[in-house]
Amino acid sequence: MPDAKEHVSQIDPVWSQIISEARKAIADEPLLGGLIHSSILHHKSLEKALAYRVSLKLASGEMSEQILREIADGGYATDPWLGDAARADLVAVLDRDPACHRLLQPLLYFKGYQAVQAFRLGHWLWQQGRHDLAYFLQMRISEVFGIDIHPGARLGRGIMIDHAHSIVIGETAVVGDNVSMLHSVTLGGTGKEDDDRHPKIGDGVLIGAGAKVLGNIHIGHCTRIAAGSVVLEDVPPMKTVAGVPARIVGEAGCDQPAVSMNHLLRRSSDG
Ligand SMILES: CC(C)(COP(=O)(O)OP(=O)(O)OC[C@H]1O[C@@H](n2cnc3c(N)ncnc32)[C@H](O)[C@@H]1OP(=O)(O)O)[C@@H](O)C(=O)NCCC(=O)NCCS
Repeated sequence: MPDAKEHVSQIDPVWSQIISEARKAIADEPLLGGLIHSSILHHKSLEKALAYRVSLKLASGEMSEQILREIADGGYATDPWLGDAARADLVAVLDRDPACHRLLQPLLYFKGYQAVQAFRLGHWLWQQGRHDLAYFLQMRISEVFGIDIHPGARLGRGIMIDHAHSIVIGETAVVGDNVSMLHSVTLGGTGKEDDDRHPKIGDGVLIGAGAKVLGNIHIGHCTRIAAGSVVLEDVPPMKTVAGVPARIVGEAGCDQPAVSMNHLLRRSSDG
């Protein structure tokens, strides 16, 4: 019988909710029983489920699922921050993506979420100096999910990448907490700088679809970058910028645009 302290440490509301959603999903659609059992119900924790899911997705003839799973299990076991960030990302997607109604959806079906978790494992390897393995993961994430994030890039918690086709994030990019980005976003270099050459994105920033943020520039917290913009200069906090090159077109209008997704994004049911 675990003592009270141990019992408290075992409570994981995110994982408990996923388990109950999984049971309901099987009851509603028995044909998904195999997928949901092997991906969720078979596991004791979110970390174990993620290690299974990510390694299954990234496995190829070049590296087996078993080896990838050992790597992922090792990452989650030695760095609890990875599991915390995975939970924050999951809740971020549920909170911000109007098409997401259950925590189970990103874990099973959303490639933006899965790619970010795979990236986080690659970044963990990078921090350990295991650069070749980290590059290998970067290659597989790019091949499988269409998202190319250098393992040296730094991403905060509560990241949502919606739709997630064609995301590119460079080596020296830094992304704060609670940032949301839509598809086809580039956080890249201008080609004119060496070493520290990629953008630094503040907390709570919303980056619209197709936006290109280039160079070692600072985007202030809670700013909105309009779809299709090319941002080449620092942006102060809580502004809205748009155009090519991007100019300030107004205030962000709320404290946390990335969290509220305050960009008049239509709900998926609207088409
Ligand atoms: C910028 C955005 C957040 C709207 O912010 P807003 O404060 O409501 O801005 P407004 O619509 O009032 O526009 C302000 C000005 O910026 C311009 N503008 C808005 N979005 C723009 C864009 N993407 N590119 C260029 N100019 C843009 C407007 O034309 C307007 O210009 P004007 O003052 O000369 O008339 C929104 O247009 C946007 O781009 N959201 C991202 C959406 C996205 O990525 N969707 C993908 C869904 S899959």
